Amino acid sequence: MTLVIAVDGPAASGKGTIAARLARTYGLPHLDTGLLYRAVGVKVLGDGHSLDDAEAAAAAAWSLVPAGLTEDERLTTGEAGEAASRVAGHPAVRAALLELQQAFAGQPGGAVLDGRDIGTVIAPDAAAKLFVTATPEVRATRRWKQLTARGIDISFDAMLADIRRRDERDAGRGAAPMVQAKDAVLLDTTDMGIEAAFDAARRIVETARARH
Ligand code: DC
Repeated sequence: MTLVIAVDGPAASGKGTIAARLARTYGLPHLDTGLLYRAVGVKVLGDGHSLDDAEAAAAAAWSLVPAGLTEDERLTTGEAGEAASRVAGHPAVRAALLELQQAFAGQPGGAVLDGRDIGTVIAPDAAAKLFVTATPEVRATRRWKQLTARGIDISFDAMLADIRRRDERDAGRGAAPMVQAKDAVLLDTTDMGIEAAFDAARRIVETARARH
């Protein structure tokens, strides 16, 4: 049986952890699509181009080699996330990354993909769709704790401002904006730890699977 699971939501909502655990539970391959946009943003900056340069960004997207992105520590920084959000606004970048993501979703047994537009654009026919969210304050707190634990010095207020700016840009862009798909189930993790969030996610998938 084929099982495609789409997990969308804003930064630090818990969607990445949930997607990775769902993939392990169901024995499916997992693609963190944010890494693709991060790799494009980092390449554009590394080549000395402006993040507003749609042509340079599209060229970086077309030449992207997805292997090894998970291990690339340069992609985990706040700067990479910000650069990703900027290049993600160029329709030509999204077009360049579309086929690769759809091929991943189309694998024989299915797949888990997490991002912003999986349920709406990349895999509109996914058997299970989740939109994972939490308040900006809670998301900023989670991210701030992660970064501080890694010895990175950033104020909570700066973190919260980053999160809000990224939400606004990702939800406000014309091309495939971050939005809950009509048939996605909302999972608000504001008052949940990761175990409770994962249990809720698994129940959503089980219900969707039974219906599909
Ligand atoms: O999930 P993330 O924080 O790694 O994503 C980084 C940025 O990439 C995010 O702010 C917007 C963009 N992105 C996107 O536009 N579409 C996706 N499917 C995934 C990420």
